[in-house]
Amino acid sequence: MINHVSIIMDGNGRWAKERGKPRVYGHMEGVASVRAVTEACVEWGIPWLSLFAFSEENWGRPQEEVSRLMELMAESMVKEKETLLGNGVRFRVLGNRARLSPALDAAITKLEEETAGGDKLTLIVFLSYSGRWDIQQAAERMAAEGGKDIADYLVTAGVPDPDLIIRTSGEKRISNYLLWQAAYSEFVFTDTLWPDFRKESFRAALDEFASRDRRYGKVK
Ligand code: FPP
Repeated sequence: MINHVSIIMDGNGRWAKERGKPRVYGHMEGVASVRAVTEACVEWGIPWLSLFAFSEENWGRPQEEVSRLMELMAESMVKEKETLLGNGVRFRVLGNRARLSPALDAAITKLEEETAGGDKLTLIVFLSYSGRWDIQQAAERMAAEGGKDIADYLVTAGVPDPDLIIRTSGEKRISNYLLWQAAYSEFVFTDTLWPDFRKESFRAALDEFASRDRRYGKVK
């Protein structure tokens, strides 16, 4: 059984460009893919799903695109709240939350509290996240507190490492995502652009994962 699937959602901009539309159109269609994979996890009994929605580096995109993405995030939280609650989904946002607007940060905290009892699926959205940032902040806090285990200080403390990381749109790199946590993750790369990644593509990625032989550096 697979416990945690993580997805690097990529290709929204290219999907929109192919249709002669602004990039934000691709992000909007990408939200429908987020809904599709979330529903699939509930249906297929996968307890953890995480999505790389916005990196620390993404703040460097044009202001217009950044603010539309943040608006989309805020709108989606309002629209999907009842569905999350109705399906037993616990919602969490991990990343450098200090960089989010106070209003968005507060809305996220509220939804996290409201969905805290969700026991079917934990949906984690990585927002303003980068792997090096996470390791850096963890090291600083660990040193200040005299801790011993860095995993306890990463924003993912308590979250199981991903078994599978999927990246869409044909790019084959980790792009400063879960650097520590991906130590033994399997990777599936697909050419499908994120707005086209729905249940069928998700099933195909899970089937590919199922055929892998995981050894964790050992001999079987
Ligand atoms: C990558 O495509 C996608 C993003 C940076 C944003 C993903 C965000 C969403 C799907 C919407 C908000 C999320 C939630 C959880 C409601 P790209 O823009 O890098 O595409 P490109 O590589 O083709 O330019």
